[in-house]
Amino acid sequence: MRSPESEARKRSTERKANPQTPGAKLRKSPGAAPWVESRFMKACRREHVDATPVWLMRQAGRYMKEYRELRAKVPFLELCKNPDLASEVTVTAARKLGVDAAIIFADLLLIVEPLGFSLAYDQGEGPSVKPALRLAGDVDRLLEVDPQQSLAYLYDAIRRTRADLDPELPLLGFAACPFTLASYLIEGGGSRNYRHTKGLMYRDPGAWRALMEHLARNLASYINGQIAAGVQAIQIFDTWVGCLSPADYREFALPYTRMTIEGITPRTPIIHFGTGTGMLLEDMREAGGDILGLDSHVELDAAWARLGYSVGVQGNLDPVILYASQAYLRARVERILDQAGGRPGHIFNLGHGLLPDTPFENVVALVEMVHELSGK
Ligand code: CP3
Repeated sequence: MRSPESEARKRSTERKANPQTPGAKLRKSPGAAPWVESRFMKACRREHVDATPVWLMRQAGRYMKEYRELRAKVPFLELCKNPDLASEVTVTAARKLGVDAAIIFADLLLIVEPLGFSLAYDQGEGPSVKPALRLAGDVDRLLEVDPQQSLAYLYDAIRRTRADLDPELPLLGFAACPFTLASYLIEGGGSRNYRHTKGLMYRDPGAWRALMEHLARNLASYINGQIAAGVQAIQIFDTWVGCLSPADYREFALPYTRMTIEGITPRTPIIHFGTGTGMLLEDMREAGGDILGLDSHVELDAAWARLGYSVGVQGNLDPVILYASQAYLRARVERILDQAGGRPGHIFNLGHGLLPDTPFENVVALVEMVHELSGK
């Protein structure tokens, strides 16, 4: 075991090396805004809380009647680009669920348009990105994003949401990590084996580096615009990075996630999330973030012990457990809270997003259970 002195020394070195490492202090802003002492923000700073904060990935979505009614009238992308509606969806979900944070209603892939691609969500098909980036030469044609211009609708939605939301509730922004974004650009959509993505990565490391640096720089400026518009924390999604081996993660993904995180300013809590990452957690931690998002394939206690308690964790209930009885759900919530052991720095969430036909009443019950069982 390392002594507290050597831990402190290590943290102080990390602070100098990288202001976004978990060791770097998250300062409370002067003249404290109403959300500063919220459970969620306290957990981001690894302070003690009266009950475990909880929010849910995809908390605004099709499992909710209000959302389905709106979507019957408005296509998904139009909804994302309409600040009034995006804000309404965000605020409604947070209010109906009683969660401890709201996440701005948007999509991971909005940034592909200003990068020079077309984006479509065809009924039941998932996203489609065109033209797929397949050749090294395509990398030179990527556009530099001016997010204040091309993504102004999202920043407007953030400002509107911040004005309408309960002032004590933190609002989260989000973006992809470079690897996951690259996979959509290269595959042209979702993928089973990431053949084209890994193909470019292994075949042409120079083009891969140029692509990933371009994405890291533009993702950071996109995120910085979200912070300037009024979000209190950021979740970065590396949803598909679990398809890489640890050695490939370190070589082809880690440096660019770190570059993105290092480009984020001012200092803001970062939740770093991916799926299928059981083998990658220590490396993801090294890439950066204040809180590591765990999926349901790891036991929270074992994962946190591996990462060390100087970083927080978020997770990690399997979203499918929401289809079981409330008695079973309760036992599984209790189990995760026991695994977290009341340590400061746990944010309760699912291991991945809510599924579209999840029973709504169980989602509400889940939030109540987390508060009740952790507040005892
Ligand atoms: O969490 C929230 O409530 C905020 C909104 C949010 C959405 N997408 C809304 C959405 C967030 C944070 C995302 C992130 C996102 N988008 C990811 C990362 C997800 C993760 O859990 O790791 C990814 C890979 C995407 C890309 C994307 N967008 C896919 C693959 C799909 C299709 C899947 C599906 O369910 O059809 C979308 C569409 C999408 N994004 C929907 C919503 C509510 C469904 C659209 C609809 O039909 O209404």
